[in-house]
This record gives sequence, C-alpha cells and structure tokens, in this order.
Amino acid sequence: MTSYLNYFGFGGDKASSGKAVDGLPAKQSPVRALPATWYTSPEMYEFERRAIFTRRWLFMTHSSRIKNAGDFLRFNIAGYDVIINRDRAGNINAFHNVCRHRAYPVVEKKEGNARIFACRYHGWSYGLNGKLAKAPGYQDLEGYEKEQNSLFSIHVKVDINGFIWINMDAKETPEVPWEEHFDNVDKQERYSEFDFDNYELDHTYEIEAVWMLHGIFEIWPLFHAMPPCLLIILFYAMSSVE
Ligand code: FES
Repeated sequence: MTSYLNYFGFGGDKASSGKAVDGLPAKQSPVRALPATWYTSPEMYEFERRAIFTRRWLFMTHSSRIKNAGDFLRFNIAGYDVIINRDRAGNINAFHNVCRHRAYPVVEKKEGNARIFACRYHGWSYGLNGKLAKAPGYQDLEGYEKEQNSLFSIHVKVDINGFIWINMDAKETPEVPWEEHFDNVDKQERYSEFDFDNYELDHTYEIEAVWMLHGIFEIWPLFHAMPPCLLIILFYAMSSVE
C-alpha cells in the first residue's frame, strides 16, 4: 500500500518521500511507473477493489444533486452498488444497494426521489435513514430483530464546498481518516469565490478504460493546477467509476 500512496502522491514512507530521515540528508528516489501488468491483471484489480475502493475515501458527487428529502443517486463503483441520498432530517447518507433479505437491489433507477426504499422482490422496505421499516413474513417471527437488518451503511464526508466523499470501510471508524489524505483540500483560497451550489449538472459521460488511467486517484494531483470551473466539470463528469 505504501507504494500506492507514493505513486498517487499521498505520502507513504518517509524514506522514499525524499524527506530527511533520522538526520540523514534527503535522498531523492527516482519516479517509477507501475508494472504494466498491474493495469490489466484481474488479480490486481481484485486486490485494488479490496485495498483501495473499500478502504480509501472516494470522491462521488456534489450535494446539490440531492437537494430535497428523498432525493437519491445510484452509483456503480468498481462493481459496488451504492446509493447516496438525503433523508428527512437533511442528512446525506450512503448505503450499499443490497436488500438484507435476499440481496436484491432496493433501488433500481439511477436517480430519483423516494419516500422509502422498497425492495420489489419480497416487499421489505427501509426508511431514508436505512432503517428497516417492514419485513413481510419476518417481522412477527420470534427472535427476529428489526434493528439488526438496516441497510449496510457507508461512511460519508461532505466537505466544506458540498462535495460528497464516501469510504466503504466496514469498520465503525474508517481505517484512514479523510483528513489524512485530503485535509484542507477543500479550503484552498481559489475556491472561495465560487458557490458550488449554484452549478447544475449538465451531462455525464462514461469511459471504457482501466480506472488507473482515468480514475480519480490518477488525476488528483492535476486538480491542484486546474482552474475551479474546469474542476467542477471534472468533478461532475467523474461521479461514476466502474
Ligand atoms: S430480497 Fe428484498 S425483500 Fe427479498
């Protein structure tokens, strides 16, 4: 993982970062490309799905796309089916789009507004906060615990500009805090003149490509050199990585 962090410019071990270690002079290590097979190997992709997509913070979209209670968006991120929604309390939530009964998706459209998430398969339904509301045929069974059957939730971070990030780490607290990789990235002076809520999503497009070539992490360092208007277009355009 350290080599990944170095590659993406997110840090990593001190010795290879060019900083002085234990009083020794800083030593610049050469920039290395990833081995070519890493871009095409199915095994490497499975490793990346586990080590990156379910452990790291992923940029998703902007909160202005789900302004009203009940608004939801559905994403496929490296094969993970994800819902992001706004509940009645105004909170932004993210869930795995998997019914707790037999794993049918509770949301089938790419976006919309829903009063509840109702699974079409056998009629289980969930509130906008992910809590199980009804489980026909099960809710009266002895020993059945409704509270144990909420949708699987995903960690959410809404940054100061209203952009939504998720982390699919199954632990109660993500192994990597958002701040560890992105602290203050949303507080850059050049963003201050923009109200990101004033922008509307115009269009999206999909690219048939290896995610490492066109994915969020690869081009993240470029964001720092882009004008905010171009950044907004890119942020929106990249709200789906499959
Ligand atoms: S799979 Fe959803 S109710 Fe059965």
